[in-house]
Amino acid sequence: MAKTIFKSFPEAELERRRNVSFSFSYDEIKVPETLKEYAKGKKYFIHTYGCQANYRDEEIMAGLLEKAGFCRGNSENNSDVVILNTCAVRENAEQKVFGKIGDLKAFKAENKNRVVAVCGCMVQQKHVIEHINKTYLHVDLIFGTHNIVELLDLLNEVILKKLRVVDVKSLPGDIHENLPSVRQSNFKAFVNISYGCDKFCTYCIVPYTRGKERSRKMKDILDECRELKELGYKEVTLLGQNVNAYGKDLKDGSSFALLLDEVAKLGIPRVRFLTSHPWDFSSEMIDVIAKHDNIMKYIHLPVQSGNDEILKLMGRRYTSEKYLNLVKEIKEKIPNVALSTDIIVGFPNETYEQFLDTLKIVKEVKYWSAFTFIYSPRKNTPAAKIVDNVTPKEKNQRFQELVNTLAEVIEPINKTLVGKTFPVLVESISEKNKEMLSGYTEHNKLVHFKGDPKLIGQIINIRITESHLYFLNGEIVSE
Ligand code: 5AD
Ligand code: SF4
Repeated sequence: MAKTIFKSFPEAELERRRNVSFSFSYDEIKVPETLKEYAKGKKYFIHTYGCQANYRDEEIMAGLLEKAGFCRGNSENNSDVVILNTCAVRENAEQKVFGKIGDLKAFKAENKNRVVAVCGCMVQQKHVIEHINKTYLHVDLIFGTHNIVELLDLLNEVILKKLRVVDVKSLPGDIHENLPSVRQSNFKAFVNISYGCDKFCTYCIVPYTRGKERSRKMKDILDECRELKELGYKEVTLLGQNVNAYGKDLKDGSSFALLLDEVAKLGIPRVRFLTSHPWDFSSEMIDVIAKHDNIMKYIHLPVQSGNDEILKLMGRRYTSEKYLNLVKEIKEKIPNVALSTDIIVGFPNETYEQFLDTLKIVKEVKYWSAFTFIYSPRKNTPAAKIVDNVTPKEKNQRFQELVNTLAEVIEPINKTLVGKTFPVLVESISEKNKEMLSGYTEHNKLVHFKGDPKLIGQIINIRITESHLYFLNGEIVSE
């Protein structure tokens, strides 16, 4: 077995640190000559789990690998380098990845010159690396969220020196601009505006795995958006763990309201943003969203719980009243807005009565959609240290009750859409029925309709003919 080189190892204590300085780097990435030679005729494949930040990281990794001369494989089986880009936000996400790492044992056994790499949030946890090192000896390279930019040098070491390499840093380095990237869509793009999170909600692993909140410079973001506009992109989603906090660290007057206003002025047909924390959602932001037709009137506003004691224990920094006041202001200023949310049930020691407050807020806000989760303890987070008296059975029952309540709220909303016409960005051939196309409305409702695949990438008018809980059916409105 190859010798393992431990270059760096993550420590939760260090990951928690926030007094970290960083700068901006515009240096070009150099490809090691030996890797260029190796990459000739070789293919890579990346499996991405989790959120849009990981999706965007995949595009950067693809850009780096293609710069070195690798081509994208269409499956892992015909590829030489396979990367698992992982998520740590809940236990079940991690279990899926461990299953996949196990499956790759046969892939590696078929040809020992293949490379298996694991990166992303999961490996920012020391115990995960220790587990991989003990159990999955066919993994050749482990690198973290802070050194994606070093991918080519790390691969070079693994491939040419025949070493196993572990390099997972605890602290973020510089923000790298102008990295090569291969976008997965030519009409819909994600643009990072900030990295990391400083909120430290007590259940959440993200502030540890993604590090301190760091904003990109407004000029760099606008240059990227302008280029996407010129390339004909129809939709841009501004990405951050907490977009509202954008710019605070730059101390140059930048703010999310200002950025959003400038991005909207570029004239991209659809502008979206993800994710907003209710705590620093400003009135200026609401005004900017209301002002521009091309900012989609869809706001994802995670509530997590409707109970004030639980919100306090979660470290969310707002009460249900404050949240509802924000919702009121948003609905008053943006009458046609659609709100969606994230909800966690079964936080440690949540009582049934406390849970009922969550159902209450769901009915009051009338969400258009929601992502629902059963609380999953994450090692080293404060909530994971609380002794929990809620049984898994109770948590499952609450989860089901929440799903039922959401259905009661969402179905009537979907029914009101029938007979109306909406612009839809056509995204793909429908997964279930190859004769149908699928796309999304401004309010992020999935619509299926018959049409020519040549329409993919265009915004067209669709009349809604039928509503279901998770999707709508429609027909093209001829001009
Ligand atoms: N358990 C369950 N859900 C979680 N989320 C984050 N951490 C956890 C956890 N430990 C959910 C939150 C967040 C979404 C991205 O994932 O609802 O908004
Ligand atoms: Fe996690 Fe809270 Fe930050 Fe969202 S705001 S990434 S839930 S710590």
